[in-house]
Amino acid sequence: MSSTNSPTSDTSQFKNATIGPGAFIDPDVTVGFQYHPACGDTRIGNHCILHKGTVIYGDVIIGDHFHAAHYVVIRALVKMGDYCTMLNHSTIEGIVRLGTGVRIMTNVYISSRTWIGDHVFIGPGATFLNGKYPGRRDANRPPRGATVEDDVMIGGGTTILPEITIGERSFVAAGALVTKDVPPRSFVSGVPGHISPLPDVLDEANHRSLTKQAREMWHPEGDFVAESQWPDYWNEKFREL
Ligand SMILES: CC(C)(COP(=O)(O)OP(=O)(O)OC[C@H]1O[C@@H](n2cnc3c(N)ncnc32)[C@H](O)[C@@H]1OP(=O)(O)O)[C@@H](O)C(=O)NCCC(=O)NCCS
Repeated sequence: MSSTNSPTSDTSQFKNATIGPGAFIDPDVTVGFQYHPACGDTRIGNHCILHKGTVIYGDVIIGDHFHAAHYVVIRALVKMGDYCTMLNHSTIEGIVRLGTGVRIMTNVYISSRTWIGDHVFIGPGATFLNGKYPGRRDANRPPRGATVEDDVMIGGGTTILPEITIGERSFVAAGALVTKDVPPRSFVSGVPGHISPLPDVLDEANHRSLTKQAREMWHPEGDFVAESQWPDYWNEKFREL
């Protein structure tokens, strides 16, 4: 039975967008937002899922298997590969590049001119900055965000300062403040971030089972998250019958 709250695969509602087959789109989603009379269209590949409140500007190109959870915002001139995910209330400002398999958790902020490689994981509440001296010093200095190479893991609650490069496979611990370039295969922790070689136990690429998921945990056609998954080490049942 359908209702006005059901997702649809009918993409004809978007006048400034092309979306591939297999989409699940909630009501109250905007794709191809015409932020300027001259703006171009939005292109999204196959099998996307777009939840309520999501706003995607014109001039955005996204690959297959894109998943936007609730209230995601993507501004213009953003390009991303296949298998990218953005969870609730995350924002990507304009002029940002993401590779394949980038997983962005909840409440992440990615500023303009940030470049992100393939199979990068970004934990909840991470913040990427781009203006080094905003409102001060050289007014003509263009903002420049971070460069994040392939297979980097960025923990929750981290802050990445402008112009920083984080090298391939590096691991940024939760809560770190990254203030200096990070060589490939490094470990960063603390405030300000202390950089050391990546311990052997963390020296691996991000698992593709994580970064290339075709179906999110809450995907309507994914495996059902049954009550049996409620942790048995909590001394309380989910539902007492
Ligand atoms: C850094 C991290 C990998 C360490 O895990 P671990 O190797 O199992 O380390 P332990 O928990 O045994 O802690 C070892 C030491 O590091 C410290 N430590 C742990 N995490 C830390 C962090 N994020 N920043 C600074 N210090 C940290 C501990 O206090 C402990 O210090 P001590 O030796 O002085 O007592 C882990 O804590 C972490 O931050 N993971 C990322 C989590 C995350 O952001 N996930 C996002 C998805 S939800």
